[in-house]
Amino acid sequence: MNPMIFLDNAATTFPKPESVYTFMDAFYRRAGVNPGRSGYDMCMEAGQLLDDTRRLLTRFFNGTDPNRLCFTYNATDALNLIIFGILTEGDHAVTTTLEHNSVLRPLYHLSMFRGVDVDYVPFDGRGFVDPAEIRKRIRPQTRLVIVNHASNVIGTIQPIREIGRICRERGIVFAVDASQTAGQVPIDVQADFVDVLAFTGHKSLLGPTGIGGLYVRDGVTIRQTRAGGTGVRSADRLHLEEYPYRLEYGTPNILGAAGLNAGVTWILDKGISAVAGHERDLAAQLREGLREIEGVAMYCQDDPAGHLSVLSFNINGMEAADTGTILDVDYQIACRTGLHCAPLVHDQLGTARIKGAVRFGIGPFNTEADIQTALRGIADIAEMARHRRIGKPVSSVPV
Ligand SMILES: Cc1ncc(COP(=O)(O)O)c(C=O)c1O
Repeated sequence: MNPMIFLDNAATTFPKPESVYTFMDAFYRRAGVNPGRSGYDMCMEAGQLLDDTRRLLTRFFNGTDPNRLCFTYNATDALNLIIFGILTEGDHAVTTTLEHNSVLRPLYHLSMFRGVDVDYVPFDGRGFVDPAEIRKRIRPQTRLVIVNHASNVIGTIQPIREIGRICRERGIVFAVDASQTAGQVPIDVQADFVDVLAFTGHKSLLGPTGIGGLYVRDGVTIRQTRAGGTGVRSADRLHLEEYPYRLEYGTPNILGAAGLNAGVTWILDKGISAVAGHERDLAAQLREGLREIEGVAMYCQDDPAGHLSVLSFNINGMEAADTGTILDVDYQIACRTGLHCAPLVHDQLGTARIKGAVRFGIGPFNTEADIQTALRGIADIAEMARHRRIGKPVSSVPV
């Protein structure tokens, strides 16, 4: 049994359900070969697993065609395929200040080197993006609207259906980064007007690292930005145009697909609302407990409706990294400190200049006892900070 209290589940969920470990182990021993390249039984089983997982995820997101579910290494890989495969010189894109660097950096690259113009819509004081603000930024050159479904810093879930409707009316591709929400919030790509959905396997879908994917609606075109082996039509000089080959290159991560399959199956067995409900109940306890500790500042947590079980805070007088170190060393609590790969969120919160915040992300295996230990730890650190026994005073922390 791991002695750590793991509250870094927004980075990756840990542990995974037992069935994920056992299925991965059994599958890889039995059929851990290159799928779709030959006709022997193990190869067929590996290919079948990949196809089953495509179908499972397509159903999970209410897509219509499993062939348009392409596997990638992670969400970053999927988001790069989307952004570089849609935008070209002279295009305009709209995004938000809630984005992760996996969206920001490809967009910055295109702005700096390929003449793509980008608007960054800020979130409001409660942490939500107003769809009307997105609508205002749309121009004749706008080709892509790309939005983080839920912030990995403040946990606010964005109104993607409203934004999607606006994009559909205007004929603009709407891409959603579901890294934090897939497995936590029901996603219906048809009802939500999502043209392209990017997800990662290792967070709330409860799979391992190294697998993610994207679902591309029929009728949406993503240019190919890579080429390589597909295992079929090897004599063709150009990479295959049809999905899923179009956006898949080289030997797929079948071990990852096996784990992802088992993770999603576990969620479906328990029910997504039961799994997320447990986490949000614990988040509510954490939020209420933190609110009562003098000197703790939380960010955009006033209205818990519409939040994932992710929240960030600072202790007045403490740098986030120091709080994280004390939690680790003295309380055996794992969390994440700093800018969380989402620098614009911290710019807007005013926390970038104090080196970010402390983030707790709750997972399906956390307990009330974990939350109570975390609250005791934070109360102790806040008390110490008050007495100036440790840490430099950071007077700019908004409390
Ligand atoms: C909102 C968001 N988008 C994208 C990513 C990137 O996910 P991955 O590192 O699995 O590519 C993350 C991971 O932290 C995230 O939280």
